[in-house]
Amino acid sequence: MIILKHLLPRSSIRYLLRTNSTKPQKKFNPFNIEYDPIKQTVTYPPELVINNQNYSTDSWTNVTPHILSRIGQNLHKQKHHPLCHLSSRLRQYFYQQYDPRKLSPKFSIIDNLSPIVTVEQNFDSICIPKDHVSRTKSMNYYINANTLLRAHTSAHQVDLIRSGLDAFLCIGDVYRRDSIDPTHYPIFHQCEGVQLFNKEQLFVDNKNVRGETKDLQIFAANEHRDATKQEGHTLEAVKLVEASLKQTITDLFKTLFPDASTLNSRWVDATFPFTHPSWEYEVEIDGKWYELLGCGIMEHHVLENSGLGRDHIGWAFGLGLERIAMIMYGIPDIRLFWSNDSGFLSQFAFDDSTRSVRYKPISIYPQCINDLSMWLGKAKIDPLDFYDLVRTIGGDLVEQVMLTDEFYHKKKDRHSQTYRIIYRSPDRTLTKNEINMIHKDIERYCIAQFGAEIR
Ligand code: PHE
Repeated sequence: MIILKHLLPRSSIRYLLRTNSTKPQKKFNPFNIEYDPIKQTVTYPPELVINNQNYSTDSWTNVTPHILSRIGQNLHKQKHHPLCHLSSRLRQYFYQQYDPRKLSPKFSIIDNLSPIVTVEQNFDSICIPKDHVSRTKSMNYYINANTLLRAHTSAHQVDLIRSGLDAFLCIGDVYRRDSIDPTHYPIFHQCEGVQLFNKEQLFVDNKNVRGETKDLQIFAANEHRDATKQEGHTLEAVKLVEASLKQTITDLFKTLFPDASTLNSRWVDATFPFTHPSWEYEVEIDGKWYELLGCGIMEHHVLENSGLGRDHIGWAFGLGLERIAMIMYGIPDIRLFWSNDSGFLSQFAFDDSTRSVRYKPISIYPQCINDLSMWLGKAKIDPLDFYDLVRTIGGDLVEQVMLTDEFYHKKKDRHSQTYRIIYRSPDRTLTKNEINMIHKDIERYCIAQFGAEIR
C-alpha cells in the first residue's frame, strides 16, 4: 500500500519533508515506481494506488510518476485558467440551444469523469479494431492490460448515451505518449460533442402537406456503404445530420473568434473507426492551416453498443482545447498551460470568459518574490500610489505588485498593509543583492513618504 503524499496539500508535503530531514533523505517517490536511469529500466510495485483505487500492475504498465501526478489537476476546471475560460465559452455556446419539449438546454455538459478507463471504453465500445495502432503501448499510458488513461474523450460516448443522454459535451484531460515540444505535450484536454436524432427530430423541417414526416426514413434495406454513408443509412438522413454538424461547428468557431471575420476554414475528409463519413475541420491563421477537430456521422455499431436500435442517427466531434486556446490567446507553447508562474496565470485573472486578450510573453528567467509588510498610521496607502512608487523605483525589473493583506488594529488605531512584489528581469537572472537594494529603497521611501513602520 502506498501513501498518497502527492494528494496532500503542498504545505503538508513540505512539512513531511522537513520532519524527515534528520533521517537520510529518501527520494520523494509517491507511487513507488523505481527508475534506473543507467539501465533505463522502470520497476513497478505489484499495485498502484491512484485516487484511492488499487490497480494491479503487469507487463502492460507504462504510466510514469510524472503523468500520474497530473491526474486530478483538472486545468479545465481551475478558476481563471485559460482552458477553463475556453471550456466555459463552449458551455455557454451549447447552453444557448434550448429543447422546447424538455424546457431545458438541449446539451448536457459532463466534465468530471475520471480519466482512468477500461480498454473496453477507450477502444472496443467505439469499434476500434483489435489490431489498430492506436491501441499500442507505445501510444498510450497503460495502468495494466485492462486499464489505461483515456486517450480521448470518445471513451465515454457509449456510457453517456446508455445513461439516457441524446445531446452532450464531455470535457476532460486525455493522455497520449508523445514528444514534448511547443505544440505537443503528453496530456491535453478535449471536448467531445454528441447529438442524436430520431426520425421526428431529424425531419422536423421536411413535413409533407399533412404535416407528416413518414415518407422519409433514417434506415432502409439495401443501402450500401460507400464514401458518403454507412450501410443501412439513407443519403437524405446522412446529409441532414452532416448539415447539422457542420452548421454547429462553423457557428461555434464564429462565436469563439468574433473578430476574425476573415477566418478561413475548410473541411477535409478523414477516417476514424467510430464515424463514417468523417471530417477534420481546419482554420487558416497567418497562412498556416491548423487542424482543430475531428468529427463525423457516428458508426451505427457504436449506437448499438449504447443500447439503441435502428431508430437513431447522430454526429460526434472531438476538439482539442489547447490548440484552440493557443490560437485564441496567442499562447506560443503548450507547456505554459501547466505553468504555476503568476506571470502567466495573472494574465487570465478575469471573470468574463468572453473577454478577448492577447498573451504577452513572460521572461524565461526566474521570479523572485518579496513581501513588504508595514504598519501605517490612521491613513492607508492607496494601492495605486504604491504600484506607481514601485514601478518608479524598480522599473522593468518589477513584474507584478499586489496588495495581499490589509487590516485595521483598533487598539493601536493603525492600519497595516502587506504588498507582494514579484521581481523578474526580461533578459537575465537577478541577484539577491540587486533585488534587496531595490526592495530597501522602496521601504525607505515608504518610511519617509507615508510614515510607515516596516514589520
Ligand atoms: N476521438 C478523436 C480523436 O481524439 C476525435 C473524434 C471524436 C473524431 C469524435 C470523430 C468523432 O482524435
